[in-house]
Amino acid sequence: MSATGKFHVAIIMDGNGRWAQRRGLPRSAGHVQGAKMVRRVVEASARAGIRTLTLYAFSSDNWGRPSPEVESLLRLLQCYLASETRRCLRNSVRINVIGRRDRLPSGLVRAIETSEQLTAHCTRMRLRIAVDYSSKHSILEAVRRAATGTLNTETFEALLAEVDHSAGDAGAVDLLIRTGGDQRLSDFLLWDCAYAELYFTDVLWPEFGEAGLHAALEDFGGRQRRFGKVLAESA
Ligand code: FPP
Repeated sequence: MSATGKFHVAIIMDGNGRWAQRRGLPRSAGHVQGAKMVRRVVEASARAGIRTLTLYAFSSDNWGRPSPEVESLLRLLQCYLASETRRCLRNSVRINVIGRRDRLPSGLVRAIETSEQLTAHCTRMRLRIAVDYSSKHSILEAVRRAATGTLNTETFEALLAEVDHSAGDAGAVDLLIRTGGDQRLSDFLLWDCAYAELYFTDVLWPEFGEAGLHAALEDFGGRQRRFGKVLAESA
């Protein structure tokens, strides 16, 4: 496994609903199982030397789901932050929630702020959780804020980070993983994934596991990244 150092992995955690439905359970049970898998994959990522892990937990389009599912997802996120902050502190994992905050319940916003403050000094890995996140919204909002200033890649990325409440520069995504069989980006980190390697798996998120992460990292290790250029030996 060659993926170490300043490595940014982003994951679209899809398939919770189907995992539950196949077992005759409500979709919310799939999300609960999904949250358990988040804990395992966060720990496995830190062990693997991943520098930044960004997880898509709740997209802005997810507000369109039935309200009991939305409420259970937001509650789950709040519980996750309450229970996992201590574990992240122990493992020196810095928590940062990216996305809009103006539409979230106030209790969740307080939980986010607490987790971020308590783990602000942690340096081993940065765990970014995307909540009420829409890449298109972030880009539009950054453009609006840039209207009066100088705009280049650096200033634009700083504005994007400000819009997203991102704690500093997370860097471009190196590897984007999507579980659950679909092959699309779903408005996730569109700017940051400009040169990301994409990895799709049919495995449903609640079954992804450390083995799933290692399979993705191994696949990534075999990719040839050229960033639009040619390899030195063929130049
Ligand atoms: C997509 O599966 C998944 C989500 C919309 C939510 C992801 C949330 C979690 C994994 C748990 C909470 C997160 C954290 C960080 C604690 P889906 O419901 O669309 O599945 P389906 O495609 O099978 O219906």
